[in-house]
Amino acid sequence: MAADPALILAIETSCDETAVAIARGTQEILVSEVASQIDLHAPYGGVVPELASRNHNTTLRPLIDVALRNAGLTIADIDAVAATSGPGLASSLLIGDTTAKALALALEAPFYSINHMEGHLLSPFIGSETGVMSNLSLVVSGGHTMIVRVDGVADYEVLGSTRDDAAGEAFDKAGKMLGLPYPGGPVIDRRARDGDAKAFDFPRGMLHSGDYHFSFSGMKTAMSHRLAGLGDRWDPEDEGLLNDLCASFQAAIIDVLVKKTISATSATGASLVTVSGGVSCNSGLRTAMQTAAEDQGFQLLLATPSHSTDNAAMIAYAAACRIEAGIAPSSLDTDIDPNLKLTA
Ligand code: KG4
Ligand code: ZN
Repeated sequence: MAADPALILAIETSCDETAVAIARGTQEILVSEVASQIDLHAPYGGVVPELASRNHNTTLRPLIDVALRNAGLTIADIDAVAATSGPGLASSLLIGDTTAKALALALEAPFYSINHMEGHLLSPFIGSETGVMSNLSLVVSGGHTMIVRVDGVADYEVLGSTRDDAAGEAFDKAGKMLGLPYPGGPVIDRRARDGDAKAFDFPRGMLHSGDYHFSFSGMKTAMSHRLAGLGDRWDPEDEGLLNDLCASFQAAIIDVLVKKTISATSATGASLVTVSGGVSCNSGLRTAMQTAAEDQGFQLLLATPSHSTDNAAMIAYAAACRIEAGIAPSSLDTDIDPNLKLTA
C-alpha cells in the first residue's frame, strides 16, 4: 500500500505578508493563513523592510499555531517543513527560513528551501487533477515579470524577464502618483473598469523588441507627462479623469503582457499557458488572457486570486511537487538569497 502523502508545513515571509500553510502532499491544501501587513506599510506608500521583519517576528509563531489548530493537527503530525529562501527582503526571509529550520530540526523532519518564484510558477496547478504539466508561464508580481517555459517540476527555462521595473511595481508607482492608496494595483484595477482605456496614450515598452523581455520603467515617466499635460485640469478628486487614467495605463501593461505571452506560446508550441503572481489578480489581464486563449486555441490556467498574491499554500505545493518528483530535501545549511534566481 502506498504511504500517505506527507503533511507539509510551509512558511512564506519574503516580503510583507506573513503566511503559513499546511498541505497534504500535492493533493490538498488543508489551511492557508495570510497575515497581511498592508495597513502597516500603507502610510509609507511601500514596504519598509525593518517594519516588515519585526512584524514577521511577532506574527509568525502565533500564525503557525492558528494554522495547526484550523487544520486539526498538532506540530507532531507534521512530516516536512518548507520555507521561502528567496528572492525577497533579506531580513524578512530570515524570519521564515530560520523558524522553518528550527522546526525541522526539532521534529527531525526534512526541510525544503523553496524559491518564491517557483511557488508562483506552480501555483496555477494547486487543486488541479493533472498535477504540473508542461506549459508556458507568465509570472507577474510586484517584484518580477517573467515568461518561463516549464517542462516539469524543477525543469524551467526563463525565456524573458523585465529589464527594469516589474509590472506590479509599475502599477504601485502609478498608483502613488495618482494619490491612490497602497498598493496601487488592485485600486487601479477597480477604477479601470469604469474608465475609458483609449482616453490617454501610454507606451507599450519593448512590444516590438522581438524577444520576451519587458520594460515598464517608462510607465511612470509617461504617467508624470500625462499629469503634467493635463495642467490645471488634473484634479485627483475627479473620479472620471482618474478612472480614464487608470484604464489607459492598465490597458498598456496588459497589451504588452498578453502579446508577449502569445508570441512565446506560438514560438514554443505550448498548448497550455499559466498565469500567476499578484498581478494575475487583475481582472483586465484575466479577461484579456481568456480572450487570447480562445482566439489562439491554447488552454489557460490562471492561479486563483488567493493563490496569486503572496501566500504559503504555493510554497507548500512547490515542496509537495518536489517531494513527489523524488527531489532530495535541502540541507539545513542552505542559506537565504535575496536575489535567488529561478534557474542556475
Ligand atoms: O505576488 P505578490 O503578492 O508579491 C510579490 O511577489 O511581489 O504581488 C504583489 C503585486 C503588487 O504590486 C500589487 O499591486 C499587485 O501584485 N496586484 C495587482 C492586483 N492585485 C495585486 N496588480 C494589478 N491588479 C490587481 N488586481
Ligand atoms: Zn510574490
